[in-house]
Amino acid sequence: MAPASPPGSAKPAGALSRVGLLTGGGDCPGLNAVIRAVVRRGLAAGGYEFVGFLHGWAGVLENRAIELTRESTAGILPRGGTILGTSRTNPYADGNDGTAAVRRTLEERGVDALIPIGGEDTLGVALRLHRDGVPIVGVPKTIDNDLGGTDVTFGFQTAVQIATDAIDRLHTTAESHNRVMVVEVMGRHAGWIATHAGLAGGADAILVPERPFDIEAVVAHLRRRHASGRSFSIVVVAEGAVPQEGTLQTREDTETDAFGHPRLGGIGVTLEGEIERRTGYESRVTILGHVQRGGTPVAFDRVLATRFGVAAMNAVAGGRFGKMVGLHATNIVEVALEDALREPKLLDPELYETAELFFG
Ligand code: F6P
Repeated sequence: MAPASPPGSAKPAGALSRVGLLTGGGDCPGLNAVIRAVVRRGLAAGGYEFVGFLHGWAGVLENRAIELTRESTAGILPRGGTILGTSRTNPYADGNDGTAAVRRTLEERGVDALIPIGGEDTLGVALRLHRDGVPIVGVPKTIDNDLGGTDVTFGFQTAVQIATDAIDRLHTTAESHNRVMVVEVMGRHAGWIATHAGLAGGADAILVPERPFDIEAVVAHLRRRHASGRSFSIVVVAEGAVPQEGTLQTREDTETDAFGHPRLGGIGVTLEGEIERRTGYESRVTILGHVQRGGTPVAFDRVLATRFGVAAMNAVAGGRFGKMVGLHATNIVEVALEDALREPKLLDPELYETAELFFG
């Protein structure tokens, strides 16, 4: 594998190519596995050095970075979080010329190509930079599993396992107290975590962003279940789930991040109150929140993250920029960033219908 030709840089012949990495957006189990894999692939090929920008795009804008070596990336494969830190900084926020700022740092650091590891926002910035001529290869990350261009993102399986373990535990306490347990899981635009964990945990109802719910239909379903002799229920709700228009008052979200997303969390609390008020069944809510993102990645995510890291480095080495690596069936592929980001990957209706068969 030949080292990437340093685009537009005035490096002396024979100088090592420098590859920059960053992790942006919410953290996700498997980020460290990607970092390690990029570095190890590049070192095995020879001719590369690595720079890790700190706290996502903030590190690029502020020129804060560390050198990444075999030693500094050793032992990080099973570690949660990201050794580089992360943030939701948007270089283009408030009309700023993000491209000029990024270019300045890359030139100062002698960085020839950039591998951002992130979700729709981080990779949206990557696409803009690519269109402005910055050599870039994206790696998809999100526990929500809602990115296009890949069948699965790493971190998702870990989140599903954590949510499933929680549902299993809630089952026994629900049964002991004859309660309705509402479990709120992550999933801003898509109900992948809710549906997978709900299916795996035997939920009696699953509410997802793709299907606005009718609270009366939900409580009618719980009443039917209880009338048939069951004394407890488990309702799994994605944080982004919404009631059908005009059917239920929910909390207004006011706070937004640099990409304009409201801070979610709280639909479970509304449901707990409404279910108890409408049915008379004692109800409790558990909001799993960031527990789903913390800690060590499961084996599947370690393997996927490692394959993504190797593939991203291969794309850089081959000079194939403007790409995102992804998983199609069992194969690692390169897709155009713009295709991957065209629209979010929403829940497969067939999967939801399969889960629905087991409601109640
Ligand atoms: O995008 C991943 C995600 O975990 C969403 O499911 C969730 O809405 C959001 O991040 C939470 O972000 P933060 O860490 O900023 O609270």
